[in-house]
Amino acid sequence: MQTFEITGGTPLLGTIEVGGAKNVALKLLVASLLTDDELIIHNVPKLRDVLFMLDVLKSLGVKESFVGNTVRIQGGANVATTVPLEVGARLRTSSMVLGPMLARFGEAKLPNPGGCRIGARPIDRHIEGLKKMGATISYHSDDGYFYGVAKKLTGADITFEKNTHTGTETLILAAVLASGKTILRNAASEVEVDDLIGFLNSMGARIQRTAENEITIDGVESLHGSEYTVMPDRNEEVTFAIAAVVTKGDLTIKNSQRNNLESFIQKFSQVGGGIEEIDDKTTRYYYKEPLKASDIMTQRYPGFMTDWQAPWALLMTQSEGVSTLHETVFESRFSYVSELKKMGAVIEFYTPKVADPEKFYNFNWDDKVEGYFQGIRITGPTALHNAVLSIDDLRAGATLVLAALSANGQSYVHGVEQVDRGYEKIEKRLSRVGAHIKRIEEE
Ligand code: EPU
Repeated sequence: MQTFEITGGTPLLGTIEVGGAKNVALKLLVASLLTDDELIIHNVPKLRDVLFMLDVLKSLGVKESFVGNTVRIQGGANVATTVPLEVGARLRTSSMVLGPMLARFGEAKLPNPGGCRIGARPIDRHIEGLKKMGATISYHSDDGYFYGVAKKLTGADITFEKNTHTGTETLILAAVLASGKTILRNAASEVEVDDLIGFLNSMGARIQRTAENEITIDGVESLHGSEYTVMPDRNEEVTFAIAAVVTKGDLTIKNSQRNNLESFIQKFSQVGGGIEEIDDKTTRYYYKEPLKASDIMTQRYPGFMTDWQAPWALLMTQSEGVSTLHETVFESRFSYVSELKKMGAVIEFYTPKVADPEKFYNFNWDDKVEGYFQGIRITGPTALHNAVLSIDDLRAGATLVLAALSANGQSYVHGVEQVDRGYEKIEKRLSRVGAHIKRIEEE
């Protein structure tokens, strides 16, 4: 286990570059199962989840090299179709190989990705869609594996009852090689899905967004190699913007993408965050004035993303008045609350009033665990103080690092591996803009 030793209270100042989007890179790697040819993918962040995904693909026989931030990857015609439990279990997204395997090889054996620290996260919507395309998929509880077979996937008209980001992508990855047309309705609208579509189209796929939340895929016989650059990571930009303000600092972000962050930028400006457009790809975020409270509800794109609610909660601990945060996508994404409270934050849970929660929330209502809340109320501002903190999920982890940087005194943040899942060399990048942060190995 590794720990960050952080001495807070110093404003972060300078320029920081956003890396490639984790939630795109992972899916582009999976696309290597769709072709015999080599794929060259640039701007791939070297982080734990990406390395885990490469391990999954290597265990199937895929060849890869990862130099700098460029991955060269080649699946070939003879990859295995069983994901070993020990590699599959480390990464939920490993389940996304299901679509390409069924489309190209007609079979797949995959360990159940199971729940994770932000909720149950089943893949029932992925499976239902693949079944509509002609696959037979069954779950064997004795060995914990999904078994899938498909003679030939065929295009289908599929409506997702509720939104699913990776579910949409899994079905796209299957439909590109299915026979005929697939229409995905109520499909995810995240810009990361568009980057995957751009990549697959560059490999010869025929995918279009045909209406709001509708994607049409005309299956093709085969796909070819391609060279592509992953879009920058929106979640990193939000993390650094909030880091600037909570440390009363001033950060200039390179590889910025304001167009894809409208819902964040609107709220950020409303609460008094300083923002300056330097050029198309550069944005300055800075502490300008005392912050105001806000009410936020997480939503699918183009709404306020669930991935931003943890750092936003930290921002609200520094705001004047009472703020609320209503999480609607995952049933359990407030693990950081107890840790922020250790630092002096004033946060209480509450149950937002919702007419028909079963329909309203994006998670399956059956997965709701007794005692978990969907809302928090934060009263600020509170000067945070140092503490010993534990991280148990990625975005919560990044938030606690920022909290420790903003607090007076020395903090210890345990479970750094969670942050490494989504941020490449975060302590090095933060040190360059003035953070006092050191990684220490624990016995
Ligand atoms: N859900 C189901 N059944 C399904 C699919 C989803 O019940 O078959 C539920 C989930 O449990 C969740 C909700 O529906 O409560 C939404 O899930 P979705 O499928 O949209 O999320 P995801 O695809 O699992 C991706 C990102 C997340 C990001 C969400 C929302 C990747 C690898 N992950 O997750 O990113 O928060 O979309 O945009 O793309 C992160 O980077 O830290 C992260 C968690």
